[in-house]
Amino acid sequence: MKKRLVVLSGAGVSAESGIKTFRDSGGLWEEYDIMEVATPQAWNRNMDLVLEFYNQRRKQLMEVQPNAAHFALAELEKYFDVHIITQNVDDLHERAGSTKVMHLHGELKKVRSTADPDLVYKLNGWELKKGDTCELGSQLRPHIVWFGEEVPMIPAAAELTKTADIFLIVGTSLNVYPAASLVGYVKRGTPIYLIDPGHLAVSHIPNLTFIKEKASVGMERLKEILLKLADKNQ
Ligand code: APR
Repeated sequence: MKKRLVVLSGAGVSAESGIKTFRDSGGLWEEYDIMEVATPQAWNRNMDLVLEFYNQRRKQLMEVQPNAAHFALAELEKYFDVHIITQNVDDLHERAGSTKVMHLHGELKKVRSTADPDLVYKLNGWELKKGDTCELGSQLRPHIVWFGEEVPMIPAAAELTKTADIFLIVGTSLNVYPAASLVGYVKRGTPIYLIDPGHLAVSHIPNLTFIKEKASVGMERLKEILLKLADKNQ
């Protein structure tokens, strides 16, 4: 029986694919004001700007590839029952071959009805325009969780986190809630690994091994550690 590895990933795991993180220097939130492009109020106030912001990110996503960190996570599925809970809205985990990916904050390549949030569609191409409507005739919006909106996947993510035999945090500043609160659902005594080149306030996290590297390097280090673990348990 494979041990369950649950992963909480953030923008840092896609950084080496060329996608900007949010809070690093030069990050996305330095270029744009969150309140202008990533809130329901922004959508009501300036739909064109919000549509353009996500169109640009969707366009970039079509030009980038998964990186070594994404592929290393996919490869670990040979040895572990890997479940990825990602804050990322890109599809790079899936394109690298990961088969169980939960998107807490939505997906760039999907859009949804403004009349019925259960009507979610895959967007062909990268552009969503004013006047693009759902089957009910209402304007389509990015299928993204904006600041101030509910995070519907959180209960499922918390339940999944409780079942982890090993928990990995990679490429997230743990600044945003409720995603960051998932660490609190890890069963007592469960080994937690954190891969990040930056400084994080992590003294509150028990059983932590902090691999202070960028994701592509840190994942190689982690694979060595975990494969030794897997051998021992065979
Ligand atoms: N490898 C691994 N980690 C990296 C790398 C890298 N090459 N480069 C940067 N990082 C780390 C940074 O040190 C930082 O801790 O990735 C983290 C990125 O943090 P944020 O920019 O805050 O991104 P994230 O934690 O994913 O943001 C969470 O905030 O804006 C919202 O909804 C958005 O999902 C996003 C959420």
